[in-house]
Amino acid sequence: MARKPANASFGETAAIPIGGMAALQILRSGNIRRGDGVLIYGASGSVGTYAVQLAKCYGAHVTGVCSGRNLDLVRSLGADEVMGHTKEDFRKNGETYDVVFDTVRKIKGSGCKRSLGEKGVFISTWSPTRESNEDLIHLKELVEAGKVRPVIDRTYPLEEVMEAHRYVDKGHKRGNVVITVVGDDRA
Ligand SMILES: NC(=O)c1ccc[n+]([C@@H]2O[C@H](COP(=O)([O-])OP(=O)(O)OC[C@H]3O[C@@H](n4cnc5c(N)ncnc54)[C@H](OP(=O)(O)O)[C@@H]3O)[C@@H](O)[C@H]2O)c1
Repeated sequence: MARKPANASFGETAAIPIGGMAALQILRSGNIRRGDGVLIYGASGSVGTYAVQLAKCYGAHVTGVCSGRNLDLVRSLGADEVMGHTKEDFRKNGETYDVVFDTVRKIKGSGCKRSLGEKGVFISTWSPTRESNEDLIHLKELVEAGKVRPVIDRTYPLEEVMEAHRYVDKGHKRGNVVITVVGDDRA
């Protein structure tokens, strides 16, 4: 548990823990240093949108890979470069990165070898994560500092939870989908 960020609505706050903590903990395992080149694969999803912003907080040069319709969103989150996964394959363009983070479990580490520098690492959301008060408080502080923002795609009332799941199951949500239990989502 942590206090809600003062500048976030309840809906935005609900969208922080799962994607935010996963991105934070898995990125940490990449030991990112200032100036490192970090590629976020699936940059428009829940984990991906946090990963782009957190990697920027670590001072990385961030490349976000997503579909064409999400390029502007990922750019707006601070990505230095954006790439459409339907148009370009980063594994074949000759560029190398210090960290490749597959947030959507769509690619294999073995296929990224040529895209990783000598000490480059491949990380993914297959890694286990844990609930952590410290991490939640850290995320709250980053949101309050304006360094990280939760991305909300759609909000559904509780009665439409099945509809919400159907939408999420399509696999193309941008950031997060929120269920409101009461109609009022005032900050
Ligand atoms: N380890 C953990 O603790 C932990 C925590 C949370 C989630 N996860 C796992 O992490 C994965 C991601 O979760 P999530 O909630 O962040 O996912 P999500 O928000 O549902 O991911 C949706 C995004 O995936 C992108 N996408 C779909 N197909 C793609 C492809 N072929 N290449 C690149 N991007 C693609 C979509 O972008 P486009 O529409 O632009 O293609 C969309 O924006 C899931 O497998 C989830 O189970 C693990």
